[in-house]
Amino acid sequence: MTKSRVLTGITTSGSPHLGNYVGAIRPAIRASQGNQCESFFFLADYHALIKSHKPEIVHQSTLEVAATWLALGLDTKKVVFYRQSDIPEIPELTWLLTCMTAKGLMNRAHAYKSAVQDNVDAGTDEDFAINMGLFSYPILMAADILLFNAERIPVGRDQIQHVEMARDIAQRFNHHYGNHFVLPEAQVDGDVAVLQGLDGRKMSKSYNNTIPLFLPEKALKKSINKIKTNLLEPGDPKDPDSSAVFQIWRAFADPQQTELMRNNYAQGIGWGDAKRQLFELINNELKEPRERYNDLLLNPARIEDVLVEGAARARLESRELVGSVREAMGIRSLS
Ligand code: TRP
Repeated sequence: MTKSRVLTGITTSGSPHLGNYVGAIRPAIRASQGNQCESFFFLADYHALIKSHKPEIVHQSTLEVAATWLALGLDTKKVVFYRQSDIPEIPELTWLLTCMTAKGLMNRAHAYKSAVQDNVDAGTDEDFAINMGLFSYPILMAADILLFNAERIPVGRDQIQHVEMARDIAQRFNHHYGNHFVLPEAQVDGDVAVLQGLDGRKMSKSYNNTIPLFLPEKALKKSINKIKTNLLEPGDPKDPDSSAVFQIWRAFADPQQTELMRNNYAQGIGWGDAKRQLFELINNELKEPRERYNDLLLNPARIEDVLVEGAARARLESRELVGSVREAMGIRSLS
């Protein structure tokens, strides 16, 4: 039986935070450790260019994201781990797909539509500050996916539509030029938590409410102390289900620890105490990876080597696929 192929990309436009860890990185690394699938993970630095025009941020984030995955134990002998911009076949396939993608399909993409809506709401021109990268973003993402014949694409809910678009594009291409692409499917893990941030909204860089993953101990403690709580005093029973502190606890605790904490809430644990315990729990899980992370940041050449090797493995496949796609489209030698 052939293994199913799993592929996912991480946009390198910021520093990884606890929400990324719980919602994406930890489950992806765990899944890659089993033997049921073959994993392709990559740093989506071309995607980062859509959002960030600050070279230092794109570069630093690529370093930090790569170091994060390696520090958390990604086995790069098993997983193909690479940087999008090291694969020239990705932009090449992007163009080939662009010519088979209906503009109307792109008009419907959420990320683009919400940028237009923001402009309308602000009373500015609807195209204000919208670049073609944002508009065509789903095609670049389709190329990432289709280039490696990936079947399962683990993503957050906000990315489901993009995977469906990749599927639509593949279908249209296959119908016209013959079967070249496997049809991918989004895989959304219903179990993994969408973590709340410091203010109780979803933890997200765009809300500025994140807890960075590898903060030094002291800063981590401080950050956890900033998580919003209500005004109930120690001794007052508290509702775990509406508490960000509890919700984050749950993402790191085993079922038994979760039950214990639920009880503590009923019995009126003080917020200070709950936060101290939360810090201990998180810090325990992150202490060792944090050391490896700091070490890697001091040795970027080690990370570079790993990525270059990953790209060489990935290109063994991507060259062949793009070769046959070009051929099918009539881009071929004259002799
Ligand atoms: N767009 C995705 C995000 O912002 C990242 C991404 C780029 C991706 N290419 C991909 C995810 C291909 C899955 C497959 O989260």
